[in-house]
Amino acid sequence: MASPTIKLNSGYEMPQVGFGLWKVDSATCADTVYNAIKAGYRLFDGACDYGNEKECGEGVARAIKDGLVKREQLFIVSKLWQTFHDEDRVEPICRRQLADWQIDYFDLFLVHFPAALEYVDPSVRYPPGWFYDGESEVRWSKTTLQQTWGAMEKLVGKGLARSIGISNYQAQSVYEALLYAKIRPATLQIEHHPYLQQPDLVQLAQTEGIAVTAYSSFGPTGFMELDMPRAKSAPPLLEHPVVKEIATKHNKTAAQVLLRWATQRGLAIIPKTSRPETMAQNLDSTSFDLDSGDLEKMAGMDLNIRFNKPTNYFQADKLWLFG
Ligand SMILES: NC(=O)c1ccc[n+]([C@@H]2O[C@H](COP(=O)([O-])OP(=O)(O)OC[C@H]3O[C@@H](n4cnc5c(N)ncnc54)[C@H](OP(=O)(O)O)[C@@H]3O)[C@@H](O)[C@H]2O)c1
Repeated sequence: MASPTIKLNSGYEMPQVGFGLWKVDSATCADTVYNAIKAGYRLFDGACDYGNEKECGEGVARAIKDGLVKREQLFIVSKLWQTFHDEDRVEPICRRQLADWQIDYFDLFLVHFPAALEYVDPSVRYPPGWFYDGESEVRWSKTTLQQTWGAMEKLVGKGLARSIGISNYQAQSVYEALLYAKIRPATLQIEHHPYLQQPDLVQLAQTEGIAVTAYSSFGPTGFMELDMPRAKSAPPLLEHPVVKEIATKHNKTAAQVLLRWATQRGLAIIPKTSRPETMAQNLDSTSFDLDSGDLEKMAGMDLNIRFNKPTNYFQADKLWLFG
């Protein structure tokens, strides 16, 4: 079972269905990555902040050693954390992340959030998180997104990243990036599910030739793992009567309907699961089509509820990134 691919503006092909690595426990992460490769996944979506890149690398190395896959068949994605936005910090941290993954280039390296925080040395704390002191103090860096993007472009020049992209940018910062970019962002990764559809942002990116990757396709479910009150109080998407009705009609699961809703509209997806049977189910979500009536009903489910914003995790007066 192979995923379809999306041709990026960098010229590279990106699998449309990938595997998300956030909240994959370090203790089981190497096995999870190995099993996902065995199940047929080729794209892995990691980040410094997920705290498991070393273990991801172990899973990849074992799969390559056992002959399951070759490095060039994988599409490995990672992200630049906010405390490494200063121009002179970008390449060293990218090199460290590559070393953790045991690889010498990322297929795609993303700016994780459009916000620059003061540098925290990895010897002090890694991953550093949002707070300078590890507890509550937010310290901005003076580095602009344009300066950081320039450093990201140098990664491409040095062969450390084949494509570069952005994540959690809103329309204004995407438009501005298009003004200063010598290398246009290949992808925009955003929270996207029927409760947060962001149609204008998706259309902007697609019109500009930037591939959109949807994260947290199951809406509140991924945030229940974190006990987030906002997720607990939202009606579960996987149980939503419209989604269930469409799933029954096509003889698919609710999860497959949510994933197909995104891929059929041209987006890439990166669902996370720790269960092997669910890995196969999620990967096998592009083998049917929703009809126009299904798409219309799901378009009507938008509630504009965003789960993944810093101020949903903690109180911090400086981090209104989606304001
Ligand atoms: N750029 C960013 O800022 C950002 C932010 C958030 C996420 N992401 C990326 O996007 C990925 C996915 O997002 P996410 O982890 O928030 O959530 P998600 O993939 O929407 O949901 C994961 C949750 O759904 C469950 N699940 C998975 N497949 C299922 C299925 N077929 N049926 C029923 N339940 C299923 C999982 O449970 P089990 O594990 O028990 O199966 C887990 O609790 C992340 O791992 C990360 O790579 C990026």
